[in-house]
Amino acid sequence: MRVLVTGGAGYIGSHTCVELLTAGHEAIVVDNLSNSSEEAIRRVEAITGKQLPFYQVDIRDYDGLDEVLGKHQPEAVIHFAGLKAVGESVEKSLLYYQNNVQGTLTLCDVLSKHGVCDLVFSSSATVYGDPASVPITEDFPLSATNPYGRSKLIVEEILRDLQVSDSRWNIALLRYFNPVGAHHSGQIGEDPSDIPNNLMPFVSQVAVGKLECLSVFGDDYPTKDGTGVRDYIHVVDLSIGHLRALEKLQQKPGVVTYNLGTGNGYSVLDMVKAFEEQTGRTIKYRIADRRPGDIAMCYADASQAKKELGWEATRDVNDMVRDTWRWQSQNPQGYG
Ligand code: NAD
Ligand code: WQD
Repeated sequence: MRVLVTGGAGYIGSHTCVELLTAGHEAIVVDNLSNSSEEAIRRVEAITGKQLPFYQVDIRDYDGLDEVLGKHQPEAVIHFAGLKAVGESVEKSLLYYQNNVQGTLTLCDVLSKHGVCDLVFSSSATVYGDPASVPITEDFPLSATNPYGRSKLIVEEILRDLQVSDSRWNIALLRYFNPVGAHHSGQIGEDPSDIPNNLMPFVSQVAVGKLECLSVFGDDYPTKDGTGVRDYIHVVDLSIGHLRALEKLQQKPGVVTYNLGTGNGYSVLDMVKAFEEQTGRTIKYRIADRRPGDIAMCYADASQAKKELGWEATRDVNDMVRDTWRWQSQNPQGYG
């Protein structure tokens, strides 16, 4: 299959391109490089030995997308492009709505013109807000506590409306839990441009000596050790989930929604301990105040994806921390 990948130079996008190319699909990337580097594209080509056509195009640029679509005529799209920093979204809400919502509208407009109506969308477990219980199933109530999360929720709703108004569309809404890890080669991985907001990149930058000390945000949550519990999922497992979703769209299901997680919850201190055990490094940490907006526990019931997509995560927490460390230690400055 020929697949357009928006945001394909980014963390999850680059890993998904590896899986697409390895499985014999063709991929074409559009990315404005606002949070990534073209070096990631070159590394995907090196890992796979395949070509990955790349266009530095913004998804808000109708003409730019129109040209790429006209040239490559993809059969399906995986739409990763978006801004994802929760804190920044509170400061710059209009930017987030313009980029994530307007960008998706423009993309869908161009796709519609070219008759490309199979779409996989990167949603997030953040659409469950503060869930009343765990594990979380896809039919839990949805809510948003910040503009980033609301942009995902709005796009989910827009895509549902789009499919109702035009039945050519088949759309998979994939709600990711906490993606971590890196490709086994250590060639590609997560490369935050600033001080990381997320736990695992922060831990690995402490391990490599770039950052001094991890602040553990709260040890008084109602969890086993008082620290927040999340469903960390290896980025390669997550990427493979996208291939299964593309296959599902061939059955013309309309709109389908899946949690992509492992179904297991690990606390912040579990992750620190696993990292120390697998890498032999000591992670200096201190207990700090809770981070505003954080929830105690979030993990998936991923049985729907298993049943309907034949997909489940196979990499465990030790794989996640080892692969994170391989990437970080081989590339202390990221893509440089
Ligand atoms: P990322 O920032 O590494 O990748 C996103 C890519 O999109 C970047 O390469 C960026 O340059 C590009 N981009 C952003 N705005 C664009 C625009 N207007 N036009 C073209 N390209 C644009 O992030 P990621 O972690 O790979 O996330 C991919 C998607 O998954 C995002 O939509 C994100 O919201 C979603 N998601 C991520 C997580 C996570 O924790 N990483 C969790 C849930 C959902
Ligand atoms: C994990 C745990 C923190 C950093 C965010 C977004 C969510 C989704 C994934 C895109 C929590 C603790 C963290 C640190 C810490 N992204 N922590 N010290 O908050 O589950 O989700 O990323 O859709 O929308 O909100 O992930 O990695 O930031 O935090 O103690 O320096 O680690 O409190 O318990 P989170 P995270």
